[in-house]
Amino acid sequence: MFFLGLLALTGTAEAAQAMLRFGCSQAVIDRIDPLVDPGKVPSSHVHQIVGGNAFNASMPHTDIAKEATCTSCFFDQDFSNYWTANVYFKARNGSYHRVPQMVNDAIGAANGGITVYYTASGAKESTAFKPGFRMFSGDASRRKSAGLGKNMQSCYRCYTGPNFKGNNMSPCMDPKLDTEGFPTTPCPGGIRSSVIFPLCWDGKNLDSPNHIDHVSHPVTGPTSFTVVNGKCPDTHPVKLPQIHLEIVWDTTKFNKKEDWPADGSQPFVLSHGDTTGYGQHGDYVFGWKDDSLQQAMDNGCYAASCKKLTTQSFANANKCVVKSVVKENTDGWLPMLPGMDM
Ligand SMILES: *[C@@H]1O[C@H](CO)[C@@H](O)[C@H](O)[C@H]1NC(C)=O
Ligand SMILES: *[C@@H]1O[C@H](CO)[C@@H](O)[C@H](O)[C@H]1NC(C)=O
Repeated sequence: MFFLGLLALTGTAEAAQAMLRFGCSQAVIDRIDPLVDPGKVPSSHVHQIVGGNAFNASMPHTDIAKEATCTSCFFDQDFSNYWTANVYFKARNGSYHRVPQMVNDAIGAANGGITVYYTASGAKESTAFKPGFRMFSGDASRRKSAGLGKNMQSCYRCYTGPNFKGNNMSPCMDPKLDTEGFPTTPCPGGIRSSVIFPLCWDGKNLDSPNHIDHVSHPVTGPTSFTVVNGKCPDTHPVKLPQIHLEIVWDTTKFNKKEDWPADGSQPFVLSHGDTTGYGQHGDYVFGWKDDSLQQAMDNGCYAASCKKLTTQSFANANKCVVKSVVKENTDGWLPMLPGMDM
């Protein structure tokens, strides 16, 4: 539950801390990736994308807040793009089906999409990203634990019943509540994914060849959700707001044990072919208008309440969709994951 996350935050930092939490509706599901595979149509695997409508197979390092004309996010000023791999169900007969998403707890009438958090430990303690900035979190090729325990940067919460039952405590901070790999038994209320991004920046490069090296964790290593008061290393001295993404997968239609593998293993797979879930990853292209994110971080904004920002209704946000570029069936029963024949 995010309120408990906030309590954790108030316990560790001074008064002017900020934490935005807001929904962004699905803008498109498509097999393009302007960060890892710029210009490639189709790219290697399917993603679900939210945010501004400047999203495309390649995106300029200019200010995309000036290119986008709408956003699927709750705050009018956020034209950033956020995307992750999709989750698919592999039935016992070998067919795949994309797992639909549902809107997260206490978000409002969004259309699926992603819940986005930005956290800063206090006013003037973090520096907002610059236009053109982008980064990646996670390792798509990972198939085993990163060994970070209570500081894991990617995790899954198995909801034990409808209405987000089991949504207690902050995400990714307790290996008993959140697993780094896919849950191994059916989750009656669906599965929530979390991806946390690094906190420190080299202050110079808007990107790097692997989309990770221009950012870094604090000197003490990766930090949990809302734990943002660590010291940045000399190589990456600029403290960024912490980005954390949540996605809720509505697995409820796929919980029949007779459709699960006969050997008792779990049936979910990330769109890049990862059956373990350890390879979960997130992509970010910054696109806040002018200095609006800095203003939000420096003025104690809290959850979806921020005097420095304006908001739109989800009825409006849900209209901001991006046309898919790759024409393929990403929805019905499929003989293989899209792109896995390449
Ligand atoms: C995406 O890029 C293609 C090729 O560069 C271009 O034709 C198209 O207009 C772009 N779409 C958007 C929404 O910017
Ligand atoms: C595979 O199993 C699913 C779930 O039972 C079913 O809906 C689908 O039609 C089956 N596909 C094939 C090709 O038999």
